[in-house]
Amino acid sequence: MSRNRELAFKYLLAGVSAVGALLLREALGPAFGVHYPYHTVWLAVIFSAWYCGVGPSVLAIAIGMTGIWYWFLPPFNSFSAKDHTEYFGMVIFLAFSAVIVALGEANRRSTARRQQAEEELRKAHEELEDRVKQRTAELQRAQEAAHALSARILTLQDEERRHIARGLHDSLGQYLSALKINLGLFAAAGGKEAARAAECSEIVEKCIIETRTISYLLHPPLLDEMGFASAARWYVDGFARRSGIQVNLNLPEQLPRLQRDLELALFRAVQEALTNVHRHSDGSRVGIDVVVGPRQIRLAIKDNGRGIPPERLRALLQTGGEAGVGLAGMRERMRDLGGSLEIESDSLGTTVIATVPIREELASTFSPEEESVAKVAS
Ligand SMILES: Nc1ncnc2c1ncn2[C@@H]1O[C@H](COP(=O)(O)OP(=O)(O)OP(=O)(O)O)[C@@H](O)[C@H]1O
Ligand SMILES: [Mg+2]
Repeated sequence: MSRNRELAFKYLLAGVSAVGALLLREALGPAFGVHYPYHTVWLAVIFSAWYCGVGPSVLAIAIGMTGIWYWFLPPFNSFSAKDHTEYFGMVIFLAFSAVIVALGEANRRSTARRQQAEEELRKAHEELEDRVKQRTAELQRAQEAAHALSARILTLQDEERRHIARGLHDSLGQYLSALKINLGLFAAAGGKEAARAAECSEIVEKCIIETRTISYLLHPPLLDEMGFASAARWYVDGFARRSGIQVNLNLPEQLPRLQRDLELALFRAVQEALTNVHRHSDGSRVGIDVVVGPRQIRLAIKDNGRGIPPERLRALLQTGGEAGVGLAGMRERMRDLGGSLEIESDSLGTTVIATVPIREELASTFSPEEESVAKVAS
């Protein structure tokens, strides 16, 4: 309703209430007689003052007063002069009406102010909610972008490692092998440089072994050819030999091939966790357990080292870490595959647990008996 129409409606309402009050007074004539001419009109004045405002109230008072003057004050049904008691009554009526209108207006204004304040509050609340929603969406987008970026970086890192590993093996390795053959020929030919050639051949042999080790550590060919189980056994053997740390690897009897990125993620997790044990834990034993459940594969790596310092562990669990990228990268890989990474650590050692969902057809190849509970090094 527009403002003008609303005002017109209020005037109409006040007018109707005043006329209604006069008619009511007329209807109550037999009961009131010539007494109480103003009683019913008070109702119209109060109603108009409360709901309609100053202007409509003045209209109601004017109509009421005119009606009373004409019909209910002697001489009746006439506008001719009344006696001074009636004038006095009229003045009292006007004065009280003015007070009622003033009170009504004050009440209406305070109600209007309260409603306005409530409306402003509601708007501010809505605005705040919109901004929170907007910020949440922005945050979510930023998080998604960060995840996508880290997943991309890890993929690129894997590709890079694979590329360098292949280059070392296929190119540098082949040249070194050719060099070794030629040096072998020199050594076999005899002469005064034969001993030096044999010595060079031995050095080249060491280079070949070293190159192959670096290449295999960067990206073991076994992982692509034979799968996670073989690559993990190969890596664990080499790690135990190099570090002197005893590693107990428990794999399901027949672990079938998993999807390529899952095998790579599991292998990198073993690699990173063992490197961490060697670098940070000061432990002497590690237990690695791989358990395939109905819907997921679980890899747990537990050491008997000194544990992660509590404040660093808290930072790692809350923010994903501030120290290195090893555990954070591991978590990203698992998250990218729909899985998760848990870290438990105290003064008796650290356990890193990666859980990743696996495809249904793969899970169904495992019977429940094969779901052996992880037995970790104690
Ligand atoms: N097995 C462990 N025992 C004791 N402390 C550990 C172990 N694994 C990790 N930590 C602690 O957690 C921190 C974070 O490990 P993370 O692998 O993320 O980084 P980093 O090994 O320091 O560096 P990066 O892996 O990037 O080379 C380590 O700096 C170390 O303090
Ligand atoms: Mg690390």
